[in-house]
Amino acid sequence: MSNIDLQALIPNNVHLAENRQLQRALEHWQPAFLSWWDEMGPSDFKAKEVYLRTAVGVDAQGWASYGYTPMPDYRWGIFLADKEENRKIGFGDFMGQDVWQDVPGEYRSTFRRLIVTQGDTEPASVEQQRLLGHTAPSLYDLRNLFQVNVEEGRHLWAMVYLLHAHFGRDGREEAEELLERHSGDVNKPRILGTFNEPMDNWLSFYMFTYFTDRDGKFQLKSFAESAFDPLARTTRFMLTEEAHHMFVGETGIGRVIKRTLEVMKELDTDDVATLRKAGVIDLPTVQKFMNFWFTSSLDLFGSEASSNAANYFSNGIKGRPDEAKFADHVELDTEMTIQVPDGKGGVKGEVISTRNGMNEITRLEYVKDCNVGLTRWNMGIKRAGVAFEFKLPSTRFRRQVGMWANVPTTPEGQPISQAEYDAMKSQWLPTQDDITFVKSLMQRVIEPGKMAGWIAPPDRGINAQQVEYEYVKL
Ligand SMILES: [Fe+2]
Ligand SMILES: [Fe+2]
Repeated sequence: MSNIDLQALIPNNVHLAENRQLQRALEHWQPAFLSWWDEMGPSDFKAKEVYLRTAVGVDAQGWASYGYTPMPDYRWGIFLADKEENRKIGFGDFMGQDVWQDVPGEYRSTFRRLIVTQGDTEPASVEQQRLLGHTAPSLYDLRNLFQVNVEEGRHLWAMVYLLHAHFGRDGREEAEELLERHSGDVNKPRILGTFNEPMDNWLSFYMFTYFTDRDGKFQLKSFAESAFDPLARTTRFMLTEEAHHMFVGETGIGRVIKRTLEVMKELDTDDVATLRKAGVIDLPTVQKFMNFWFTSSLDLFGSEASSNAANYFSNGIKGRPDEAKFADHVELDTEMTIQVPDGKGGVKGEVISTRNGMNEITRLEYVKDCNVGLTRWNMGIKRAGVAFEFKLPSTRFRRQVGMWANVPTTPEGQPISQAEYDAMKSQWLPTQDDITFVKSLMQRVIEPGKMAGWIAPPDRGINAQQVEYEYVKL
């Protein structure tokens, strides 16, 4: 098991104290990170004690400790999953060879770009969510928001460690720039589109943690297969934390639906205006938010056919999520079929090499995973005796990246004219009215155990505490 230094200025299990140069470089970056947190992190809750989990090791059991901490005192550390002795490359042209402890020169710029892109999403989401604390529907939710925020901060540390440890001066410069781009900034935006979307309500927050953090999960799973072992070990541990973020999303959306169903039953209606007047979010509006965040997250996987993705796979840079479950780990001459626009308003199949289709394979795995929650929510709706079913739109709907970028389709993926799309858009995606309504419900609730009227309480509290626990001392 790895040695954990929790007393150090930067808690770590990477023997930082034995590498003075690296330690100094990271200790130099630390104040810049803290001032970024101060400026761009959750606003106005600085001195408040929050019941947070902190990573203190990488053991499957007992990797975290819980306690009250003001967020700026959070112990952001560097933790890599334990080294697997004799680990071999599990896919691509170098399959079966020893994994790399350093980045090979010829892949240096590729790895750097991938690590920077991943790293950029972590602080971006903190920036997107910085004002949400003011409208939290309960102390329980407020605490979960802050938990997600501090862990995204730690994920930034994870990527910055790799940049500092393996990419020399370039890496240090990239680490600084990670604090200089900001979500939604016109001049210096974050790298990926979804991470520049405004986040001003909790329904969007739950959608983001369900759909966009899940994209993160699949990116991390692909990196966890990498031949570059430090990257694989870093991302494997990040996945442990990421699970909670998706839990926040899944239970958050589930609680919104549960509350709406309760009021539908009480008032014996599915009339949107009546339900809105009663202060809950009607199910069609929940579906629209789902359509928005799901499709926005689909773009993050990149184009359906991609020679970059093929290179990542061939060269052992990035595998498929859970590579072991695929039959062929080399895919030398294999082919697959993707759906593309036929240029005549229809859809046709196009055969591409499997290596070129890695983004699409990963995206389809993601869609399957997204559907797990929908099945659960739909079961609840059925049990309530309500005739409504959530459905994820087609991967062709509202795309801005790839073969289907800017091709208007129905949510089922049927190509239509721009005029037809424009006429139906307000049925499929949140309108300004929908957003204004959802925002009108966002009122802060701070009494322990109390919930805002639009959301049901969670089934249980955090770390075996009561729902009524004082998760944040305001
Ligand atoms: Fe993250
Ligand atoms: Fe996350």
